[in-house]
Amino acid sequence: MPLNWAPAGGVAGSAPSAGSVTATSSPAVDPLLREHGDTQVPPGAVDLAVNVQPGPPTWLAERLAAAVPDLAGYPDDRAARAAAAARHGRPAEECLLVDGAAEAFWLLAHVLRPRLAACVHPSFTEPEVALRTVGSTVVRVRRDPARDWRLDPSAVPAAADLVVLGRPDNPTGVVDPVETVAALTRPGRIVVVDEAFAEFLDDAGGVAGHRDLPGVVAVRSLTKLWGLAGLRVGYVTGPSDVIRTLGHGRQPWSVNRLALTAIEALTAPAAEDERRGRAAAVAELRTELIAGLRAVGSLEVWDAHANFVLVRSGRPGLRDRLLAHGLAARRADTFPGLDDRAVRIAVRDRATHQRLIAALHITENGGPA
Ligand SMILES: Cc1ncc(COP(=O)(O)O)c(C=O)c1O
Repeated sequence: MPLNWAPAGGVAGSAPSAGSVTATSSPAVDPLLREHGDTQVPPGAVDLAVNVQPGPPTWLAERLAAAVPDLAGYPDDRAARAAAAARHGRPAEECLLVDGAAEAFWLLAHVLRPRLAACVHPSFTEPEVALRTVGSTVVRVRRDPARDWRLDPSAVPAAADLVVLGRPDNPTGVVDPVETVAALTRPGRIVVVDEAFAEFLDDAGGVAGHRDLPGVVAVRSLTKLWGLAGLRVGYVTGPSDVIRTLGHGRQPWSVNRLALTAIEALTAPAAEDERRGRAAAVAELRTELIAGLRAVGSLEVWDAHANFVLVRSGRPGLRDRLLAHGLAARRADTFPGLDDRAVRIAVRDRATHQRLIAALHITENGGPA
């Protein structure tokens, strides 16, 4: 592989002597970075924290049920891999199926072990956790709210041999132009683009479809738009040498048969109309939600391109203030660069949005609109 990776073993310490086992520990990682929305909904509260759509579609549930009798067989990923790759105009060697996008970040960190990784924030924190765990030095590159969170690629240190950014980014909702990703590429560097929420874009091809971008690895998730977080379904696209190295660095049969059934079905051209329909329905509700949030008057509300919206109050404790109304938004202070004036709100149905807006008028302005 023509890339500049540190040799594996950076956290392993010295080799164990014969007949003994040496337990080694990874560098301590801030536990707040390991918090995600799924643990932030107290019993009885309305879930505005988890950014997964209801689902899956009935036809897919039926197909999964029909695959259950075949579970005696080991998984064969060839058809699903070919389908996912073809979706982005790539050969199968440029695609690796994963157990949800989260697995991809851990696999990338463990296999590539970059010396200096740049994580663009605020963003999903699991890539940084994985990189710190394997002993990489991590530098945080901040997006600027005054630029509507768009990344300035010149802010990324030239020495970084791995860069991670979200597109659309979670929690800001921003989508950087493909030119920004292109500006980050250079010999010896891998650029990891977290496209977990790209399914919500009108054109879901993403940078996964840009074979011309050198060293760019796209991480895709099918759990969000299709309501399959419990099944763990995703894939990675990138240069064949990187994909091969990732594949060699993991156990066999990593993605189970039911997940393969779902990946093959959801990346087939036949699923595209339904994907677009789901994305369009979310976009319509998101536009209404943003208008309602802006009408509260005291909030900063950024445009967004997935199934969530980032909101910032002028006062602290916004999540707690909403919880007092039975509404559980995603806390934002666990994202580097944000604090407890902000929350991330999942796009839901109109009635839930109305309830939220009414609560915001009270907690922000002291009374009903
Ligand atoms: C930006 C982002 N990327 C990736 C993931 C992980 O997705 P998956 O469920 O496919 O592991 C999440 C989950 O919340 C996320 O928010």
